[in-house]
This record gives sequence, structure tokens and C-alpha cells, in this order.
Amino acid sequence: MNGDPELFWKGGNLLAIETSCDETSIAILDGPKLLAHLISSQIPLHQKWGGVVPEAAARAHVEILVPLLHEALKQANLTLGQIHGIAVTNQPGLIGALSVGVTFAQGLAQALDIPIVAVDHIEGHLWSFLAEQPRFSVPLIGLIVSGGHTELILVKDFGDYTIIGGTIDDAAGEAFDKSARLLGFPYPGGKELSTAAEAGVAGKLKLPVAKVPPNSFDFSFSGLKTAVAVQIPKHPEISTEDFAAEVQRAIISPLVHTTIAAMERFQVSTLAVGGGVSANQTLRSELTDEANKRGFQVVFPGLNVTTDNAAMIGLVGSIKLARGLAQVKRDLEVSSSTSIADSLK
Ligand code: KG4
Ligand code: ZN
Repeated sequence: MNGDPELFWKGGNLLAIETSCDETSIAILDGPKLLAHLISSQIPLHQKWGGVVPEAAARAHVEILVPLLHEALKQANLTLGQIHGIAVTNQPGLIGALSVGVTFAQGLAQALDIPIVAVDHIEGHLWSFLAEQPRFSVPLIGLIVSGGHTELILVKDFGDYTIIGGTIDDAAGEAFDKSARLLGFPYPGGKELSTAAEAGVAGKLKLPVAKVPPNSFDFSFSGLKTAVAVQIPKHPEISTEDFAAEVQRAIISPLVHTTIAAMERFQVSTLAVGGGVSANQTLRSELTDEANKRGFQVVFPGLNVTTDNAAMIGLVGSIKLARGLAQVKRDLEVSSSTSIADSLK
């Protein structure tokens, strides 16, 4: 599989659309090459509510999609007639938000009489490292850490996935964001908390790292936010930076240890990390150190494709099209949950 020249679709320019949550994103790809990539974040819109409001998210996607498409075509120096296929996120995510992207994509595909392929958002995060290096070797283990998901996936091949672990409650990004809110950082907060953590020292107090059953590769982060809420008023002497550093340690330490344990248990020497939290520099350096000590290899996405983006959707869509997995002119269903481990096997 390594360096497979047939990995990506050779049918022309592929338009990719991502609207699963609070980012509207459009990319245009030719094979693995990104001709255009735009991400319009709704964070300022949702900031005043402290979380994503689904109705507002869907409406904002409707408003921005057409201008974003025009901008992307301009960036790629193409006309709409020079788009030969479409990839669109159809799951998991907010139903209203997903429906906007899927309806838009289906309308375009029908009008242009071109193939359309549905892409799972988690599968997009899993393969987002392909934007940096358009080749992979299998088997690999995927660690997906985002605002909505935390999954450990055994990947025997593209499309052959087994979920070997995941969070039993909050996602890793959610744990960052909820703790960030308690510490007074603006929504979503994960990035701000991690920036503060770099200026702080962990260990001034001990926040709990949740215990999950032995031999499981699961995570639990919901106890952390309760502990943070209880400990903040008790420790006025501890700076926000030191608190942030300890929160970060309590989230990252189980992610690193459980992931490395899974690699050892399944005898898989390659790790691919994806999702918004994969931007975290401490997670990157600790995973890399622990992996390298054991002769394992880790691949990370470029920082432009860690949070939600259409480039990763286009990359997966391109591989699916190359392998004849496109649902040409069929109605695409949207779903709030992922089913990659079942549906693609
Ligand atoms: O993948 P993503 O954009 O959205 C979902 O699919 O959920 O991930 C967003 C999450 C948010 O929780 C955000 O706070 C977190 O990724 N995040 C970070 C960092 N940058 C983004 N968390 C920790 N450290 C960061 N540097
Ligand atoms: Zn995501």
C-alpha cells in the first residue's frame, strides 16, 4: 500500500464539503493535491451561548456555502464546470448542519451530472495526515481526539476498521473545553487552556485520571470537570496556568498510555492521530517520545487539517471514488452517529 500510485481518484477535480458542526469548509482537490481550502468558523457566533446552537449552526452554513464555493473556485482558478466529482460529510454530526451540506452537494452533483460520495467525518479525521504525506502503510492504529469523539481504531486497511477503545463519557476535546470554561477561558477553550498550560507547572494539586477496567482501551473524562469545579475555589493560591497544566496532564496522560498499550497489545507499530486535540503540542511530543522509545512511528496531520475541514473529507472521498465506493446519484442519508466500524467492513 505504501506509496500506491492508484490510491487517489484520477477522475479530475474533486469538490469537498464539510458542514457537520460549527465549521463550514470547502476544498478542491486534484488527487491528493489541494487546489483550494477554506474554513469558515462559526466560533464567534456560538461564543455568546458558550456552546454550539444547532439551529444557528445550520442557518450559518446555508448563508456561507455559496460565497465560500465561489471563493474556493477563484482560489483554484477553476469554474464550476471544471468540477468532476463531489465528496460530502454525511455523518456523524448535527443533523440540521449535515443536511445543509448534503443537500447542497446533491443539488450540485445532479445539476453538473457528476458522481457524489458520502464521507464519514471520523474517517476524515483518521486519514487527515494524508494531506501532509499522501501514502500510508497498514496496519495502523488511529487515535481520534476531537470535541465530540475519542476513539482508538485498529485499521487493517482503508475501510477495514475495528473500534478497540473510546471514551465512555466525555470526549477529550470536551474535557478540555469544559475545564477551560471553569477556568474562565473563552469558548471553545481547548487551545487557550493548552497555551496557558505551557506557562504553568503540573502537579501543584492532583486531579484524578480516571480508572477504566484493566485490559480495556477505554477512556473516561467526565469526573475531571467535577474535580476541576470542586478544586478551583479550594485553591486560590494556584495560578490559572498551573491549574491548566494539571488539567492538561490529566487528559493527556491516559491518552498517551492507553494508546501505546493498544499498539503493544495489537502489535501495530504505526499510529495516526487526528481531530482537533491532535493540534496539542504536549500530546504530540509525549506520544512521539513514548512511541519512539519502542521503535514505533507516529503520523500527525498538518495544523491546517486538525480541526474540522473539508480537505480530509476530500482525501477520503478521493480514495473511495478510486475504489468504486461512490454512491452515484443516490440519495445520501445523514446520521448523528458514525458507523465506520460496521458499514465499511
Ligand atoms: O475536530 P474538531 O474541530 O471538532 C470535532 O469534530 O469535535 O475538534 C475541536 C476540539 C475542541 O474541543 C477544541 O477545544 C479542541 O479540539 N482543540 C484543542 C486544541 N486545539 C483544538 N484541545 C487541546 N489543545 C489544543 N491545542
Ligand atoms: Zn471533527
